Amino acid sequence: MRFPTTSGILLTAGVLSASTANPLPQSNIETSLSLERRAFSNAPDGYAPGEVKCPDVPLLRSAKNISDGEQEFVKKRHEQTNKALSQLLKRVGMTDFDVDSFLSSYSPTVGIAFSGGGYRAMLSGAGAIKAIDSRESGTTDGPGTLGGLLQGSTYFAGLSGGSWLLGSVIVNNYTTISELQKRDDLWELENSILTPEGSLKIISNIDYWTDIRDDVKAKKEAGFDVSLTDYWGRALSHQFVGVEDGGPGVTWSSIALTDHYKNADIPFPLVVADGRNPGEQLISANTTVYEFNPLEFGSFDPQLFTFTPIEYMGSNVTNGIPVKKDVCVRGFDNAGFIMGTSSSLFNQIMFNLPADNLPSAIVDIAESFLAGLSESDADIADYSPNPFYGVNPSRNPSANTRDLTLVDGGEDLQNIPLHPLIQPTRKVDVIFAFDNSGDTIAEDGINYTSWPNGTALLATYERSLMPTIANGTVFPAIPDTNTFVNLGLNNRPTFFGCESKNFTQGATIPPLIVYIPNAPWVYHSNTTTLTMKYDNTQRDNMILNGQEIATQGNDAEWTKCVACAVVHRELERRDVTPTQQCQQCLKKFCWDGTLRPETPEKVYDPEYKGTEIKSAAGRVGVRVGAVVAAAVVALVVV
Ligand SMILES: *[C@@H]1O[C@H](CO)[C@@H](O)[C@H](O)[C@H]1NC(C)=O
Ligand SMILES: *[C@@H]1O[C@H](CO)[C@@H](O)[C@H](O)[C@H]1NC(C)=O
Ligand SMILES: *[C@@H]1O[C@H](CO)[C@@H](O)[C@H](O)[C@H]1NC(C)=O
Ligand SMILES: *[C@@H]1O[C@H](CO)[C@@H](O)[C@H](O)[C@H]1NC(C)=O
Ligand SMILES: *[C@@H]1O[C@H](CO)[C@@H](O)[C@H](O)[C@H]1NC(C)=O
Ligand SMILES: *[C@@H]1O[C@H](CO)[C@@H](O)[C@H](O)[C@H]1NC(C)=O
Ligand SMILES: *[C@@H]1O[C@H](CO)[C@@H](O)[C@H](O)[C@H]1NC(C)=O
Ligand SMILES: *[C@@H]1O[C@H](CO)[C@@H](O)[C@H](O)[C@H]1NC(C)=O
Ligand SMILES: *[C@@H]1O[C@H](CO)[C@@H](O)[C@H](O)[C@H]1NC(C)=O
Repeated sequence: MRFPTTSGILLTAGVLSASTANPLPQSNIETSLSLERRAFSNAPDGYAPGEVKCPDVPLLRSAKNISDGEQEFVKKRHEQTNKALSQLLKRVGMTDFDVDSFLSSYSPTVGIAFSGGGYRAMLSGAGAIKAIDSRESGTTDGPGTLGGLLQGSTYFAGLSGGSWLLGSVIVNNYTTISELQKRDDLWELENSILTPEGSLKIISNIDYWTDIRDDVKAKKEAGFDVSLTDYWGRALSHQFVGVEDGGPGVTWSSIALTDHYKNADIPFPLVVADGRNPGEQLISANTTVYEFNPLEFGSFDPQLFTFTPIEYMGSNVTNGIPVKKDVCVRGFDNAGFIMGTSSSLFNQIMFNLPADNLPSAIVDIAESFLAGLSESDADIADYSPNPFYGVNPSRNPSANTRDLTLVDGGEDLQNIPLHPLIQPTRKVDVIFAFDNSGDTIAEDGINYTSWPNGTALLATYERSLMPTIANGTVFPAIPDTNTFVNLGLNNRPTFFGCESKNFTQGATIPPLIVYIPNAPWVYHSNTTTLTMKYDNTQRDNMILNGQEIATQGNDAEWTKCVACAVVHRELERRDVTPTQQCQQCLKKFCWDGTLRPETPEKVYDPEYKGTEIKSAAGRVGVRVGAVVAAAVVALVVV
């Protein structure tokens, strides 16, 4: 079944979508749907993008600043974040610090970032959100709680598994994690996404795949290139979009039309993906990092340094000018497709479609795709026609091709979506970086034990040292991963970049990084990246462990230090000495520059920090079977 198309926006229906907003065009459906609260179906024809009249605004914009729309949003958001931060800072008990006077003169810009790492990252990150969301019970009950940090955040970034978390919350009416746990049409992971029959209200695997196939076919018949990511994104949508049939018409740009967005009740959501051409290998030193936000798609990187209105992606343009006069496209920015792109490494699980349970026509799709595709390119998401065709030809590797291909945001090892948050134009003061990467390796030197070890931060730091790609971004010094493990920096929260004085005089001062790694508090939360099934007990235990990580077991000393981190940069700018209490925090949590680069003596095997949950044992997460060896190697780092 398809959702009714929104008539009146199709070019063929003869109705023009005029717009006055600058720079983001707002289509005329906004008025009729202004009561919508959740992201919704407003694509012209379900999953198939359709032609519309072009908006009155330019389709390209230089990245030298954030968009006017984002500036407006942030201004409104700060009214809300200041209220939330006021309550939080007072509750945790900052001493010798006048919260009201501080917040009356400054609105801190807080960013939260959720790494990739499949369902492990999604669930562990969900625990963190649950702990910092004041709408959840118990999160504002005393000094050892962090409820309100989410409400106090201006930006919310997600990558790969972290984008599933972000998408699930933002697309579904800014729902809570508790609510996602309760629903029977979302976040039911006990069956594999390949054969979900019996969960997620899916009655038949055959119907499920037939619908997915029909959606993708419709896009193809509308004249667009499709890739495995389309199938993957459609499948993900059934778990995360919460609209019947996975909401084939639900667009990312519709987020900006919801009341929650218009009232700035939500942090500004940012999803990251990398540019990659077929056959190319990614390294952080030269990858073009793209972001999707509710208003725009593009990159701050010097190769591109351009944004386009996300609502009109799919339009065929040269240098931002429509190839056919006045003909643009809407509906390309499907919400599931964007989450699928950020997590496109998982495309390869399509290799595991169980041939015996599905009609051959459906297995054939996967096979015909894989036949025409080098295995190493199975992760590619096709964003042709390239919205940036003709842009910055001297530096943009995709300027001369109508094709634009993107992949999983973690493929360049920058597995925490810090890139959008360290752009100087966003003026972020502090980033709470939740790292649920699976980096560590077992004794055998082959298998992963899937704890983080700083690899993601290091990749972002190394990139920031290369002037040709950094383009004005600065990142705190980050030590090698041996040091991380030897000093236990990957086992407890660590602050990086505590002293602004340590950055080059006159340079941009980057946000303070509050690094919060996955660690076992009450549950062994280092499930493999490829674990594709969790029963509800396992799922909830992962979330519970994530809550403990975020509050460090409701440690009131830690929550005070979170408050100190929020105000730290501005106090430095004012040359105000931190309070006694905050100085203690800095002493305890800041990395002080010590290096211990020798290979760790033992493999990393952290102990429980709390009491292990002894619940009725659910079955152990089932690992998806054999995949191409190269795929495994690539996947596990994300
Ligand atoms: C970006 O926008 C801000 C706020 O409008 C303005 O103060 C600043 O000068 C702009 N920066 C650039 C490079 O245009
Ligand atoms: C969205 O959430 C608001 C509360 O924040 C609620 O009033 C509204 O009914 C919800 N809408 C939908 C479509 O779930
Ligand atoms: C990035 O560098 C790698 C290694 O030098 C190279 O293989 C790749 O082609 C480069 N990519 C781009 C887009 O320049
Ligand atoms: C970033 O790159 C763009 C495009 O190459 C360039 O115009 C701009 O000056 C660069 N910004 C900085 C701070 O280097
Ligand atoms: C876009 O326009 C170019 C130039 O007219 C044309 O070659 C190409 O086929 C068009 N692509 C699509 C997807 O319509
Ligand atoms: C950290 O993780 C990376 C990526 O998996 C790995 O190559 C490296 O050996 C690890 N180092 C330590 C000390 O765990
Ligand atoms: C390593 O992983 C392989 C494949 O999952 C498994 O068969 C093997 O038992 C693992 N080895 C150890 C030491 O856990
Ligand atoms: C201070 O900066 C230097 C040079 O970038 C770096 O090596 C050092 O680790 C930094 N110290 C801290 C504590 O970040
Ligand atoms: C989790 O980590 C422990 C070491 O801390 C390791 O023994 C175990 O095998 C890991 N679990 C998985 C699923 O990799």
